[in-house]
Amino acid sequence: MEKRIPFIAANWKMYKNQAETVSFLKELQSAVGPCTDREVMIAPPSTALAAARGAMNLPGYHLAGQNCHWEEKGAFTGEVSGPMLKEVGCDCVILGHSERRHIFGETDDMIQKKLTAAFRWDLLPILCVGELLPDREAGKTFDVVSLQVKTAVQGLTREQSQKLIIAYEPVWAIGTGKTATPEQAQEVHAFIRGLCASLFDKAIANQTRILYGGSVKPDNVDALMAQPDIDGLLVGGASLEVSSFQRIVQFQSVEK
Ligand code: PGA
Repeated sequence: MEKRIPFIAANWKMYKNQAETVSFLKELQSAVGPCTDREVMIAPPSTALAAARGAMNLPGYHLAGQNCHWEEKGAFTGEVSGPMLKEVGCDCVILGHSERRHIFGETDDMIQKKLTAAFRWDLLPILCVGELLPDREAGKTFDVVSLQVKTAVQGLTREQSQKLIIAYEPVWAIGTGKTATPEQAQEVHAFIRGLCASLFDKAIANQTRILYGGSVKPDNVDALMAQPDIDGLLVGGASLEVSSFQRIVQFQSVEK
């Protein structure tokens, strides 16, 4: 089986201005150094992307937008396009985050168009999926996640599906302090990997990186990363302080 390189991503949401971004990145890189056995991704707000690019100078670090529109340009007030993200130095983009879905009304069809567009502009997409608490309580977790993944990946080429990163983020665990247990997360990650095997093929499924997100903290990172199908993390709150994000990036690795 091809080794899946751990991918540790920070989603800063609507936090940090340019100065805060630059000082965070300088401190983080001097604490962590270049990354070779893991990849680190930082997604600052759009207004801090260019400043972040200027401050990122070590191998193994990626810069991401938190969202992007599917068109190259047009009358879409408030939106940012893939080429615009590329221009400021992004190589990744987060798509379908639960806050985009549930606060701003993004649908699976919109996310499908964005995913295709991200590949068109050579941005590596992190596709976020996850169920709401009532879905979980009604035993619908797999149905919800399955529909989100299936719809989003429609139309991807084989080469594109090989690169895709999926983040499983149970909505009830985001920003709530209620992390899914490592077993709960592993169960859904294994399900998503099986889904990738049926949608693409087994070889692609084995190399697809599936991240967990939702109240990841320094004290639960090692147990989460020890799960066989958890290949990385998407971190919100705990990515805003250098010390906690550094500890998460430097999770204790186990042979899987
Ligand atoms: P959280 O956010 O770590 O603060 O729960 C995760 C996310 O929204 O990606």
